[in-house]
Amino acid sequence: MISLRLAAIACLALTAACRSEPETGPNDWLHNQSEDRERFERLQDQLGGFSQTMWEVGERYEQMHEAIRRENFDLALYHWDKIADATARGIERRPGRADNARALFLDDEHGEVRDLLEQRTLSSAWAGFERASLSCQSCHQAEGVEYFNNQPLFDLRAPQGYRD
Ligand code: HEC
Repeated sequence: MISLRLAAIACLALTAACRSEPETGPNDWLHNQSEDRERFERLQDQLGGFSQTMWEVGERYEQMHEAIRRENFDLALYHWDKIADATARGIERRPGRADNARALFLDDEHGEVRDLLEQRTLSSAWAGFERASLSCQSCHQAEGVEYFNNQPLFDLRAPQGYRD
């Protein structure tokens, strides 16, 4: 009888402990919201839209240029694949960009540039880079943001002798 009562008390204490709210501080910007809806809105906002994607893509594109310059074809392939992953995530967040992203980049161009990188020669890799550059810029044109094509990133080219 006593042990039953003890068990009941322990049980109550435990539930009370479980029910207590987690401690939150001023940095708990999600925990501090009272509704999940508000939390999701804030998360969505923090993840950003397509420009966030393009920021990553631009950075990796630059790294890809440097990797080819160093004849580090594995690294160039790595960034090229991450560029596709980032773009795929980007169009999940901004489906309005999906048609052009697929038609001008993801469906064919990405794979064809990938094949050129896989050949692991400087001439094929630079041919791939030149092709990538055209593909990026054609999508900016199609999306009505061609002013992005006029910046140092797109001055990066294959060295003389490797261009058509
Ligand atoms: C959907 C077609 C599409 C493709 C493919 C694409 N872009 Fe973009 N890019 C955009 C759009 C749209 C913006 C403007 C984003 C915005 O304003 O939200 C942009 C913006 C950018 C920016 C500016 C980002 C910033 O905020 O500073 C860079 C850099 C960029 N793109 C690089 C690239 C590179 C490099 C590639 C190819 C590897 C590429 N883009 C492929 C559509 C595309």
